Amino acid sequence: MTQGSNPAKITIGEQVIDLPVLKGTLGPDVVDIRKLYGAGDVFTYDPGFTSTASCESKITFIDGDEGVLLHRGYPIDQLAEKSNFLETCYLLLHGELPNAAAYEQFENTITRHTMLHAQFDRFFEGFRRDAHPMAIMTGAVGALSAFYHDSLDIQDAKQREISAHRLIAKMPTIAARAFKYSVGQPFVYPKNDLSYSENFLRMCFAVPAEEYVPNPVLTKAMDRIFILHADHEQNASTSTVRLAGSSGANPFACIAAGIACLWGPSHGGANEEALNMLKEIGTPERIPEFIAGVKDRKYKLMGFGHRVYKNYDPRAKVMQSTCHEVLTAVGDPNDPLLQVARELERIALNDDFFVSRKLYPNIDFYSGITLSAMGFPTTMFTVLFALARTVGWIAQWKEMIEDPSQKIGRPRQIYTGSAARDFVPLSQRG
Ligand code: SDX
Repeated sequence: MTQGSNPAKITIGEQVIDLPVLKGTLGPDVVDIRKLYGAGDVFTYDPGFTSTASCESKITFIDGDEGVLLHRGYPIDQLAEKSNFLETCYLLLHGELPNAAAYEQFENTITRHTMLHAQFDRFFEGFRRDAHPMAIMTGAVGALSAFYHDSLDIQDAKQREISAHRLIAKMPTIAARAFKYSVGQPFVYPKNDLSYSENFLRMCFAVPAEEYVPNPVLTKAMDRIFILHADHEQNASTSTVRLAGSSGANPFACIAAGIACLWGPSHGGANEEALNMLKEIGTPERIPEFIAGVKDRKYKLMGFGHRVYKNYDPRAKVMQSTCHEVLTAVGDPNDPLLQVARELERIALNDDFFVSRKLYPNIDFYSGITLSAMGFPTTMFTVLFALARTVGWIAQWKEMIEDPSQKIGRPRQIYTGSAARDFVPLSQRG
């Protein structure tokens, strides 16, 4: 970060306060307001943090106007096409693509952390069979800190690395167990001779009654979907992980907080809601009536719009092509839901209500149809998002812990409640 030559000036009454302007590698400059309260006895006000940079980061860059997403400088479409999820995990964690030896060591490490403590499986028995898998994930991931005491000292770089590896490795095993538990099928153990995504699909869909044969199209699609969801700058759930981590909480508890935040329908829960929306519309003929309801503010177009992207979400383009590949391989390329999605997208991209608000399809618009065709129930969609986003959360958590300027996050407020007043005894109240 470098300091610009001309400070920003803020005038408060008769007082003019100079605030440094800091420049990053890409994107908008920032006005450093850290001394504002001390100098001017005022706070800034930015609910939803639409104009606020909460931290310095080197991991992911998004240009919402241009529809650009870079992970450590590499464009998401290139990573989705040429890399794989574990290599992307290494890149997010370490800042550079691994050489062959580093990749092999990383893959071996992750592969050998995929099993859970044998007692952990009893955890699932405590949930009702119809529990939402995200409820199970939130509880189970938080409970990991009850099993792995040897990697909770966040000031120890080696323990931070072990926790990161354990979380990346065990999320697929926990997610698959949450799915198996919900459908009443026996848990399937990881196999070390399978790739990360093959292992996950086998743990989800293998049954003791027959040999599981991996489908290379689905394995590639799963791996690409994980890449697309890996990290996304300071989104709500990543900001939650950073805020939880700023207090010194252990990484398992911080990731559990991120999972809880991701569950919301405005965030990671949108993929489940988007597919439910397509099912509710049912046929292209019903789209105009549905669009009218959106314009009347009765509901939102799920899978559309984004706080940052005011152009097409670059992940949505890759998701759309992946959707077509999967439907061609195992589904129906003429799936009526895909017809509804395509027609809905066509209409929305030509309707001024959406164009004027810069509402474009986001990553969640096509992911639901794809995951459904792969055999996942809608309740598992956000679980898959959380599985993939774990590497982004833990990379951002690690960056925060290692940032020398880091301190506990503690925003202020503008208070509009009652001024000080004396207590009134019950007998004297109206
Ligand atoms: C993710 O932050 C991230 O990076 C998140 C994410 C990640 O990878 O971590 O990208 C993942 O969460 C993607 C977003 C998934 N959510 C949805 O698809 C749910 C539907 N989308 C909306 O809820 C909404 O678009 C948000 C929450 C995503 C963004 O909300 P904002 O920032 O309030 O949207 P905005 O300020 O750009 O809205 C401008 C206008 C408003 O209308 P007006 O009051 O100005 O008239 O557009 C309206 C909004 O009400 N609007 C929509 C809409 N999204 C915004 N109207 C209809 N349908 C929508 N989807």
